Amino acid sequence: MNDLSSSARLAGKRILLGVTGSIAAYKAGEVVRRLREAGAEVRVVMTAGAMEFVQPLTFQALSGHPVHRDLLDEGAEAGMGHIELARWPDAILVAPASADFLARLAQGRADDLLAAVCLASTVPLAVAPAMNAKMWENPATADNVRTLAGRGVVLLGPAAGEQACGETGAGRLLEPPALVAGLGELFESGLLAGRRVIVTAGPTREAIDPVRYLGNRSSGRMGFALAEAAAEAGAQVTLISGPVSLETPRGVTRVDVESAREMLEAVLAALPGSDVFVGAAAVADYRPVAVAADKIKKSAERLTLELERNPDILAEVKRRHPEIFCVGFAAETTDLERHAREKLARKGVDLIAANWVGPAAPEADGVFGSETNALRLFWPDGEAALPLASKARLARQLVEHVATRLEAFRQGHDARGKVLPFSGTRDEGRGTR
Ligand code: PMT
Repeated sequence: MNDLSSSARLAGKRILLGVTGSIAAYKAGEVVRRLREAGAEVRVVMTAGAMEFVQPLTFQALSGHPVHRDLLDEGAEAGMGHIELARWPDAILVAPASADFLARLAQGRADDLLAAVCLASTVPLAVAPAMNAKMWENPATADNVRTLAGRGVVLLGPAAGEQACGETGAGRLLEPPALVAGLGELFESGLLAGRRVIVTAGPTREAIDPVRYLGNRSSGRMGFALAEAAAEAGAQVTLISGPVSLETPRGVTRVDVESAREMLEAVLAALPGSDVFVGAAAVADYRPVAVAADKIKKSAERLTLELERNPDILAEVKRRHPEIFCVGFAAETTDLERHAREKLARKGVDLIAANWVGPAAPEADGVFGSETNALRLFWPDGEAALPLASKARLARQLVEHVATRLEAFRQGHDARGKVLPFSGTRDEGRGTR
């Protein structure tokens, strides 16, 4: 299997680095150096603001190419114009990305060369914000970042800590090694090449009568991001989704369902021959015992709904197919680790990705429906933390974990999922902490 570390995936790639006006612009030189060390070819576009902080000559020397800076420069347009420049790279990284640049990007402006290139390009775009903590926290910036993430722009950072302006908080440029690793994650890893993966996503709806249902706040974003990341990693992916309004990720087969029982049926039909099952759907634990044939009329002051348990899809998958590597989610409002570990054991799954939801969620607008999340991963003998990031980025990181753990799982189980006696090759890993 093609198991490439994220920075090794940059070998031979063309990276366009955009540098904007921020005190952190001096660190972009180190980013160019590391990208080239990883085997990437780099061209640099600077905004007018960036040139107030660093001389273009620095980037010319480090990248080995003249720096691009003017949108309306006849000479430059005759050489590599903005449209050619937009077509040239395999990915664009804007580091540092100032608050002003993020705002212009969110508005789709083309008022300088870098903004025009980003607008005209169709390749993956990553931005690494760097700004004063108050500017980062400002709702206007938060809105811009949400808009960009919604369009698939990958957010790298920012980090938190002491800032050049004397404040402390989020807004520092990620360090160059982390930026290069994050950029590498955008490229196909081949980590799940040849594997079949089933992902569930979104809410379920449990009918009460012909017009009403019991549902929940899941938007499907986390599950859709996972399906996309698994497909990018080379897997053949089936996405079984409750009712959501999201586009099907490229290369993914989608099955739409409504209720938990329909979801179970679709999952069981898709399972044979699969290698991995990921249950990211927020499945209703209960459904009304009886569905009224006609709309329930408003009459009594109180109405009691009698509910009965739904099947547990995740537990059922593992019970029927112990040979499939099963990943469950745990959405918790209290005692995250205790509940996650309890679910890991009770459902007999191989990995649990736990997230805080409700008021305990890492962001004020909660995890349901938001563009970002943070996960803690638990498996029988280890755990790992994936800090707050876009759901797209978390999904790629989770897929890397799954691919690594799947190898060990395969070595330790026979084709029916029975645990093999220890052969000395099995990863008895103490786990990452
Ligand atoms: O969709 P988003 O808006 O992006 O939000 C993402 C999310 C919060 C929905 C997602 O990250 C998440 O946590 N999904 C699981 C939600 C959930 O139902 O958690 P739970 O702790 O109740 O269930 C534990 C696990 O059992 C889950 O894998 C769930 O899919 C599964 N389950 C639960 C009940 C049931 N009847 N069948 C199941 O398979």
